[in-house]
Amino acid sequence: MADAYILGIESSCDETAAAVVRSGEHILSNVVASQIATHQPYGGVVPELASREHLRAILPVVRQALAEANQTYNSIDAIAVTQGPGLAGALMVGISYAKALAFALEKPLIAVNHLEGHIHAVLLEERQKGNHELQFPLLALVVSGGHTHLYLASQNNEGWTYQNIGHTRDDAAGEAFDKVAKLLGLGYPGGPIIDRLAPHGDATAVKFPPAQLKHRDRRDRRGPKEIATEVPRFDFSYSGIKTAVLRYIEVHAMAHSIEIRRQALAKIQRPKFENYLANCDRQTLDLVASFQRAMIEDLVGKTLAAARSLDAAMLFVTGGVAANNELRKTFERDGAQEGLPVFFPSRPLSTDNAAMIAAAAFPKFLAKDFAAMDFSAEASLALR
Ligand code: KG4
Ligand code: ZN
Repeated sequence: MADAYILGIESSCDETAAAVVRSGEHILSNVVASQIATHQPYGGVVPELASREHLRAILPVVRQALAEANQTYNSIDAIAVTQGPGLAGALMVGISYAKALAFALEKPLIAVNHLEGHIHAVLLEERQKGNHELQFPLLALVVSGGHTHLYLASQNNEGWTYQNIGHTRDDAAGEAFDKVAKLLGLGYPGGPIIDRLAPHGDATAVKFPPAQLKHRDRRDRRGPKEIATEVPRFDFSYSGIKTAVLRYIEVHAMAHSIEIRRQALAKIQRPKFENYLANCDRQTLDLVASFQRAMIEDLVGKTLAAARSLDAAMLFVTGGVAANNELRKTFERDGAQEGLPVFFPSRPLSTDNAAMIAAAAFPKFLAKDFAAMDFSAEASLALR
């Protein structure tokens, strides 16, 4: 079969991205326009601003992706776009643009679930390295700013299907990193800066109690019979640890020093890591390191418990938080102890990008699973 060149478009949150991927396994271009500078003053993503920035960026980003791939609007075989989950207004920008392109060029349009994209980031890069071997059961942890999900992934002739076996009951793991960074006056997004500050603190200094899930998930509609016969669930919860950090700040009267840090960092136009480090005292560094350690122990512990229980043969860890250094090291170390091979995307493909969308679209392209022109954005699209 001839190669297929798929143009991927991603606009679900605060990155406008476009990429060209050949046959699901070769990245020809991967352009990401980040909106961090726009949202930074607000300490988080402002949905209206995100939509406006996507509108501004989408055309130049797509043009750049085509040019870098040595492709034209006419030479590509299909257009893939993120349908959800994500911010409705932000998704709409990518979808409207992709529809217009597909209509004008008379090319197939493929709707992709953002979470499936994160999983295919791993598949794409492994294939690019020449590794085509897959083993099942395949467990995937998608851990980002909006999601903390565990899936069992299966492949058949028609493509991929997914069974959700765990999710967060409240905050996503990346959201906890972002909220804790905000509480400590470290700005947005929190994950990358906490990742770099943590090695400078003592991760054993502050003890956080493990997250307790005492109740059944209220969104779980299964009856007792189904629960007895189906695979067990491995849910997460991260709002408690954020509250514990807040309590620690109050009990140790850290508010004043946090405010001084916030103001000092706000005066620097593009603070560098050294600026963050110079503005953190020992107590803050210890708190940051202990918080990160507690998050990672919980994520790794629960995921490996799920892998043991389901006898997983492979584990994928993907999404923005998968860029975290200590998380990667811990998964690799603990996975190796259990004889479980663990795969991550490279760091640029861990966070949001469009190469993963183009890669996830390839099996759908082969199966001619095309989207109708009237499909719409789905802010809480589930992955199945
Ligand atoms: O996948 P992503 O780019 O967007 C979503 O789909 O949410 O993930 C963004 C999230 C943010 O919460 C960010 O703080 C977190 O990933 N993140 C990290 C790191 N890099 C990004 N968290 C921990 N350590 C990192 N190095
Ligand atoms: Zn994402």
